[in-house]
Amino acid sequence: MKIILLIGLMISTISAENTKEPPKQIWSFDKPNGTFDRAALQRGFQVYKEVCSACHGIKLISFRHLKAMGLSEAEIKSLAAQYQIKDGPNDDGEMFERPGRPSDYIPGPYTNEKQARAANNGAFPPDQSLIVKARLHGANYIYALLTGFKNAPENFKLQPGQYYNEFFPGHAISMAPPLSDGQVTYNDGTKATVEQMAYDVTAFLAWASEPEMEERKRLGFKVILYLLLMTGLFYATMRRIWKGIK
Ligand code: HEC
Repeated sequence: MKIILLIGLMISTISAENTKEPPKQIWSFDKPNGTFDRAALQRGFQVYKEVCSACHGIKLISFRHLKAMGLSEAEIKSLAAQYQIKDGPNDDGEMFERPGRPSDYIPGPYTNEKQARAANNGAFPPDQSLIVKARLHGANYIYALLTGFKNAPENFKLQPGQYYNEFFPGHAISMAPPLSDGQVTYNDGTKATVEQMAYDVTAFLAWASEPEMEERKRLGFKVILYLLLMTGLFYATMRRIWKGIK
């Protein structure tokens, strides 16, 4: 029995060594009172829109949600209108396309998984809405993945359509390196290096996976403050009640 356990442990440490742990980055949203950096979120959305959305959907986010990134009502309206949304059926029973509205969810690139796989050599580009929550090491992993493409070591076999990535489990990923320097042009003048774009889009995806994080943290502080106050109050009451009793 012990031997089996030992072998199991050895195998798990070997495979753990096989994929590197992603280095920790500094994220504004990590601290207990952390918030999202609105400028980074907007830049990250730009990267998602101009690069990642060619293959990945983000189906749980509506245009209206983007208000939390600091976009105005008018900006959201005109952004939504850039998209064509399938709607219907109309009075003739036909489906039709219309410009997007703020209440629409951001449409993805594919209608279903089969179509997505057919367009990507059989691999499935997962929806990005919850990807930061769905992966071990969350934001640090996504950042490391996006910046972790390397030439494969000599004896490493890659199938056609696969790329070597230091941080992807097993290293062979069916996603070509999606970012290259200067791929987007940021409005705020930030230089669009691979690292910068990876950082921004990861911040955006972290927001997308928990848009209510700031509210949750604020509430947490209020609850703790309340509990501290109540503790003091109960302690004072206890002292008073027991005062005369020896
Ligand atoms: C040309 C299509 C394409 C583009 C563009 C693209 N991806 Fe991917 N992505 C894929 C495919 C295909 C997979 C599945 C890979 C696999 O399972 O081997 C994938 C997988 C992923 C994964 C999951 C990795 C895991 O641990 O399972 C993440 C995260 C990801 N992509 C992020 C991004 C981000 C962020 C961008 C934009 C900067 C982007 N991708 C752009 C095709 C694409």
